[in-house]
Amino acid sequence: MNSIEVFVRPAQDFPELNLTEARTLSRMYGGDAGRISNGELVFEAPLDKAQRLLSRMCGSREAGLLLGEYAKQDIPRAVRLAAGIIGSMRYKVVVERGQRDLITEIVHNMGGIVDIRSPDAILRVTKSGGSYTLKLILGTARVVLSKLQPKKWVYFHPGALQPFFCGLMCNLAACPDGGLLLDPFCGVGSTLIAASKLGLNAVGWDISKKQAYGCKRNIASLRLGGALGVLRADAANPPLKSGIIDAAVFDPPYGKVSSLFGRSFEVLLAEVAEGLWRILKPGGFACFFTPLGRGLDVFVSRGFKLTYTYTIRIHSGLTRMLVVVTKVA
Ligand SMILES: C[S@@+](CC[C@H](N)C(=O)[O-])C[C@H]1O[C@@H](n2cnc3c(N)ncnc32)[C@H](O)[C@@H]1O
Repeated sequence: MNSIEVFVRPAQDFPELNLTEARTLSRMYGGDAGRISNGELVFEAPLDKAQRLLSRMCGSREAGLLLGEYAKQDIPRAVRLAAGIIGSMRYKVVVERGQRDLITEIVHNMGGIVDIRSPDAILRVTKSGGSYTLKLILGTARVVLSKLQPKKWVYFHPGALQPFFCGLMCNLAACPDGGLLLDPFCGVGSTLIAASKLGLNAVGWDISKKQAYGCKRNIASLRLGGALGVLRADAANPPLKSGIIDAAVFDPPYGKVSSLFGRSFEVLLAEVAEGLWRILKPGGFACFFTPLGRGLDVFVSRGFKLTYTYTIRIHSGLTRMLVVVTKVA
């Protein structure tokens, strides 16, 4: 078996964004566009990449592998498949009322470590008619990133984004494994921290000495691994070689909570578009916020192709648009 079905149950807060994230990840890891079935996105992905794909999922609280439908006597075959995927992870088995005898049989065939309180994976068995459907629910990045609360970091600024949302943006920007992601307005470091948790290399900068230093302190105190770099620099003047960045994720300042350091928003964004065009690899993506889509046209007129927009109403005075653009090769 070279491929497996993956299911993603979108979370309540941003279901459409979650589906777009799942489809982007599927494309990146060699899967198909999928179909909606019972409120879930189901798609086919290469068996050896499906687990990594799910570990990057930031929008969904519940996602996993569809092991298939089995007659009762064939359940051990599904369990062997699950055992190969689970390896040394901790897991628990969930069955329907009246089916508890299945648990002993499954655990017997599965071996490994059963952990009811904090499992890494859940094997869920549901019965319909004479057959049993087995699903393996695996931990997604959403769970890990939601535990990271910027307010509790050693350095905080009210402009900080929630890390799970930054992770979602890293995925919408399709940063590949081993690729280099940039946040040119890194603030307290939410994007860099999320990227590191997703296993990506990331570099960020901020024009404010206080923010750049605070971001470094956050990264150090969270003991993050991987290649992470923080500089003090102007987003309009990227201190990097041409064509080196795979993806960019950012939330620019609007001049309210975060200062624009004397520029107008449109002028700053035009300069950022110019700088990103130089350092982004051809085909690379940028995912960013703009208030009500302001400044979007400067990216388009610089040559970027608009691939996705999503509107989020923050409060009556602020509607932000999440934008994805690509540097057309
Ligand atoms: C909205 S905040 C970014 C928040 C960040 N995503 C976080 O989670 O902390 C915008 C940041 O841009 C920085 N900034 C403003 N003008 C800049 C410029 N020209 N170059 C780089 N950073 C700049 C501000 O100091 C601020 O930290």
